[in-house]
Amino acid sequence: MVQFTALKRLTSAGAGATLPTSTNDGAGARSVSRRRRVANSFINIRLTILCGIVTILVLRGTIGLNNFSSNSPSLDQNQKLVEETNRIIAQIRYDDNDNDDDDNFKYPQNSSYSLGPKINNWNSTRKTWLHGNPRFPSYINGKPRVLLVTGSPPSPCDNSIGDYYLLKSIKNKIDYCRIHNIEIVYNMAHFDKKLSGYWSKLPLIRKLMISHPEIEWIWWMDSDAMFTDMVFEIPLSKYNEKNLIIHGYPELLNEKSWVALNTGSFLLRNCQWSLDLLDSWAPMGPKGKIRDDAGKILSANLKGRPNFEADDQSALIYMLILRNNKWMEKVFVENSYYLHGYWAGLVDRYEEMIQKYHPGFGDERWPFVTHFVGCKPCGSYGDYPVEKCLKSMERAFNFADNQVLKLYGFKHRGLSSPNVKRIRNETFRPLEFVNGFDIRHSTLFRF
Ligand SMILES: *[C@@H]1O[C@H](CO)[C@@H](O)[C@H](O)[C@H]1NC(C)=O
Ligand SMILES: *[C@@H]1O[C@H](CO)[C@@H](O)[C@H](O)[C@H]1NC(C)=O
Ligand SMILES: *[C@@H]1O[C@H](CO)[C@@H](O)[C@H](O)[C@H]1NC(C)=O
Repeated sequence: MVQFTALKRLTSAGAGATLPTSTNDGAGARSVSRRRRVANSFINIRLTILCGIVTILVLRGTIGLNNFSSNSPSLDQNQKLVEETNRIIAQIRYDDNDNDDDDNFKYPQNSSYSLGPKINNWNSTRKTWLHGNPRFPSYINGKPRVLLVTGSPPSPCDNSIGDYYLLKSIKNKIDYCRIHNIEIVYNMAHFDKKLSGYWSKLPLIRKLMISHPEIEWIWWMDSDAMFTDMVFEIPLSKYNEKNLIIHGYPELLNEKSWVALNTGSFLLRNCQWSLDLLDSWAPMGPKGKIRDDAGKILSANLKGRPNFEADDQSALIYMLILRNNKWMEKVFVENSYYLHGYWAGLVDRYEEMIQKYHPGFGDERWPFVTHFVGCKPCGSYGDYPVEKCLKSMERAFNFADNQVLKLYGFKHRGLSSPNVKRIRNETFRPLEFVNGFDIRHSTLFRF
C-alpha cells in the first residue's frame, strides 16, 4: 500500500511539472512574441517528454516493467510478494522441524534427563581460569560483570507484527545494556530440542556460564519483558551471599502459590551452586510424556495452578519449597523493586507516573521492568486480546524510549505514537548541557 501511495505521488508530481509555465512577453513585437511562444511551447514539449520518461523510469523502478501493462499493478505485485513471503516462511518452518542430526555429539545418558556431563568443581576451575586470564576479569572497577540473555524462537512469528515487537523489545534491551555497561546475548537457536519453549533458557544459561567464565551474573529476561526505568540499576552488592535473585513474594511462597515467583527476569550467579540448581531444575522439562506427567504433579502441589504441562516457573517453585529446602538459603526473593512487573497494573498508569515521579525508583512509582505475561505477541495464542497487548507494549516501549531520546532532544508525540518531536532547541554549545540529559550521569547524581 505504501508502494501504491508513493506511485500516485510521483505520478502527480510528474504531471504538475508539465503544466505550461506563464509567458511574460508583455508589449514586445508580435514576431518576437510568436517566436518566443514557439520556443516556449518547444521547451514545454521537451519538458513533457522528459517528465514522461522520468515517470516511466520511476514506475519501472517502483512496480517492475512486467506489470506495467496490467490493470492493477501494485495489487498484483503485492499478491506476488505475499506468496513469496509465505513460501519462504513455510520453508523455514519446514527446516525447523527437521530431525536430530547431532546424536553423534551427545554423551552417554542414563534414564533420567540431564543438561550435560555433570560438572563438580566449577568454583575452583573457574577461579583458576580467571587467574590465568587477567584480561577477562569477573569484576570491573568493583562491579560484577553481568550478561543479559534473551532470545526468541528460530522461526518467524505467526504474525509479522510479532516480529516487529520482538525488534522493539531487543532495541529496548540494547539501550538499557548500553547505558549500564551490561553485555548482551540474543539467542535464536535451540540448544536442546527436548527443552523447547519456556524451558529453553535452562540449557542456554548453562552453556553461557561455562563458555563465559568471566561473567559473574547471568541475567535472563523474557523477550516479552521491557525495561521501563532506564535509570534504575540492580543493587548487586546487596546480594553478595546469594546466587539467585528472583522477583516474588515470600507470603505466596509459604502458601505454595504457583505465581509466587516469576521466571521472566532473574539473575543467576556463575558458580557450582547454579549449575547444581539447573541440573535439579531441568528433569521436568523434556517435551512429551515427561513434561505432561510433571505438569500433573505440579498442579497437584501448587496452589491455583491449572492443569497443563510442566513449565519452568512452577518447576522452580516446586523445587525450591517442596522438594528440598536447602536451596532457599542462597535465593533472594526480591520485591522492593520490579525486577519483573506485571503489565496489566502498570501500563495505564504511565501518565500519572510521569506527572508525579521520575525514572530511578524502579518500583511502583516508576517500574523497572514491565513484563507482558500472557500476551505472546509472537505466537498465535495468548491469554489477553492481541489488540490490548500490542497497544500496551507500544506504550511501554515509548515510555522507556522517551528516557533514551531525551539525550538527543526528542520525545514521542504520545505514548502510543512511534513518531517523535523535538523537546529543545539546538545549541552551538552542546557540551554545556550534555551531562544533564545523559542517563549515565543521572545514575551518579540522580535528578
Ligand atoms: C550411568 O549408568 C552407569 C551404569 O549404571 C554408570 O556407571 C554411569 O556412571 C552413569 N552415568 C551417569 C552420567 O550418571
Ligand atoms: C561455589 O560458589 C558459590 C558462590 O560463591 C557458593 O555459594 C557455593 O557454596 C560454592 N560451592 C562450592 C561447592 O564451593
Ligand atoms: C526555541 O527557539 C525559539 C526561537 O528562538 C523560541 O521561540 C522558543 O521559545 C525556543 N524553545 C525552547 C524550548 O527554548
